[in-house]
Amino acid sequence: MKKNQPLPESKVPDIPQKILLGPGPSMVSQRVLKAMMAPMLGYLDADFLDVIDEVSSLLSRVFQTDESLTLALSGTGSAGMEAGLTSLLEPNDTVVMCVYGFFCERMVEMAERVGANVFPVRSEWGKPFPAELLEKELAKHSNVKMVTAVHAETSVGIRQPLEDISRLASEHGALFMVDAVTSLGGSEVAVDRWGIDYCYSASQKCLGCPPGLSPVALSQRAKNVINQRGKRSTSWYLDVGLIANYWENHVYHHTTPVTMILGLREGLRVVLEEGLDSRHTRHARNGAALRAGLEGLGLDLVSPEGYRLNQITPVWIPEGIDDNLVRETLLRDHNIEVGRGLGQFAGKVWRIGLMGESSRSEYVLALLAALEHILPSVGYETPMGAGVTAANRALSEWVSE
Ligand SMILES: Cc1ncc(COP(=O)(O)O)c(C=O)c1O
Repeated sequence: MKKNQPLPESKVPDIPQKILLGPGPSMVSQRVLKAMMAPMLGYLDADFLDVIDEVSSLLSRVFQTDESLTLALSGTGSAGMEAGLTSLLEPNDTVVMCVYGFFCERMVEMAERVGANVFPVRSEWGKPFPAELLEKELAKHSNVKMVTAVHAETSVGIRQPLEDISRLASEHGALFMVDAVTSLGGSEVAVDRWGIDYCYSASQKCLGCPPGLSPVALSQRAKNVINQRGKRSTSWYLDVGLIANYWENHVYHHTTPVTMILGLREGLRVVLEEGLDSRHTRHARNGAALRAGLEGLGLDLVSPEGYRLNQITPVWIPEGIDDNLVRETLLRDHNIEVGRGLGQFAGKVWRIGLMGESSRSEYVLALLAALEHILPSVGYETPMGAGVTAANRALSEWVSE
C-alpha cells in the first residue's frame, strides 16, 4: 500500500440508529453518550479517582451490597467471568458448576483451562436448574472450593433462583460465584442477601451502556482467598487482586478506559434515578407484553412460567421457517435486530432482548407489527394484528406483583 494513496471512502461513514432487541448490546441513552464526550483525564488524576470512587459506590447500590468491594473490570462480561475463575481457582481446586445453558458451559471451559478439578452438573436447557442435583454432587466431595451459577441464562431465557444454590454452597464452606451479566439493572440482584462471593456483570445489557466494562462485586472472603493464593494467577491483566488495589488504593495497574468509566457512571446514575424497583417493574411489564404478543402470533415460548426472564425471551422458530431470512428481513426492512440461538438452540430459537434502554413498549409493538408483516411472507400464517392486540391488552391490564 502506497503511503500517499487517497483514503478510500468508509462503507458506513455515519452510523445509523437501529432498534437493538437482541441479547446485547442494547440501546444506549443520549445521557450516557454525552457523558462519554467529556475531555480525557489521566487515570490517576484526582478528579478521575473521585469518579472511580463514585462508580464503586453506585455499583454497590445496584449490586445491593454493603459488604463487597465493587469495581468495573476492563473488558466485557467474559472478562468478569475469566477474572473470577482465574483469580479464585488454582490448579487442582475442586469447583462444582451448575450448567443449564451456553454461558454455563463457557464457565466450565474457562475453569478447565485453569486446571481445576471441574464437576459440571448438567440439567436440561430451557428449564430451571434443580438444586437437588447440586446437593447430590456436593455430597460426593469433601473439599469444594467454589460453586458457580448463572443468574440469567441468556441462551435459554431462564431466571435461575439462587437461594438454594447459595445455601448449599455455604453448607459446604464453598465460595459462591454468580454470573449476573444479563440480570443486573433488569431484575433484582442481591449480592449480600444471596451470599454471593464473586458476582460479575456487563455494561452493555440492562445497565444501558456500551460494551467494554464488567462490573464486579467481590466479598471480603473472596478477597482473602485471592490474597492467600499459593501460586499467583496465570492471568496478570485479569488478576482481581491487582485490579482491586487500583479501585481501593488507587495504585496503578493498567490504563483504565477512562471514557468507558465516565459512560458507566452516567448509566448507573440513570439506573438509580429511575430506581431499582421501578426499573425492574418496567422490564417486567414490557417482558409480559412481548410474551403475550408472541403467543398472540401463535409462537411458543421456550422457558416455563415462573422462571422467565423479562429482559430476554427465547421463542421457538416455527417448523420450516428460515431463521436467517426472518432476522435479516427484520433488520433490513424494519431496522430491528433480534438475536439467534446459541449452542444446542442454534437455528431453533430467536432471542428477543428488552434490556435497559431497549425495554420500551413502543419497541415491543414495533417488533410485533414487523413480525406480523414478515412471518406470512415466509410461510407462517398468523392473523394480522393478533400480536399487537395481545401485547396492547397486556400493557393496559398489567398489574405489578
Ligand atoms: C449470561 C452471560 N454471561 C456471559 C456473557 C458473555 O458476556 P460478553 O459477551 O459481554 O463477554 C453473556 C453474553 O451474552 C451472557 O449473556
